[in-house]
Amino acid sequence: MGNENLFNSLLDRIRVLVEGPDSKESRLDAVCRLLKNSIPEYDWVGFYLVDRTKEKELILGPYAGEPTEHLRIPFGAGICGQAALREETFIVDDVTGETNYLSCSPQVKSEIVIPIFRKGKLVGELDIDSHTPASFSKKDDVFLTEVGKIVSDLL
Ligand code: SME
Repeated sequence: MGNENLFNSLLDRIRVLVEGPDSKESRLDAVCRLLKNSIPEYDWVGFYLVDRTKEKELILGPYAGEPTEHLRIPFGAGICGQAALREETFIVDDVTGETNYLSCSPQVKSEIVIPIFRKGKLVGELDIDSHTPASFSKKDDVFLTEVGKIVSDLL
């Protein structure tokens, strides 16, 4: 992976997509589908949103891929919850080696979670699972962090 041209063209398309007339949820859904359909190693792409009423808990938002049982994740639980607590990107090359991990499917081998901020405050995350081990590099981190900035007003 790390195809710079593909990443740049996807960023251009996402910048157009977020300005569209559809609901925020539909636009986030379209971003998930675009990422999943454009990059073969991205097998599940979804957003988790910080629960504004409860705080310290994430709620599953729009996603593309198989349904997951993890509809709500407390801060600190699993890769998503740890990324929310630490407000840092997490890249896991081999999820089977993780003790604090919430499995969605035995097919998943690696994962990246990118925190998304609005006005400096954590508002959600972009979570991507891959069926291939070690699918995510620093280049994916940079690319997806930019995606997060572009979509942050929709969360
Ligand atoms: N694996 C995640 C849970 C969410 S699913 O990947 C959709 C975790 O450990 O937080």
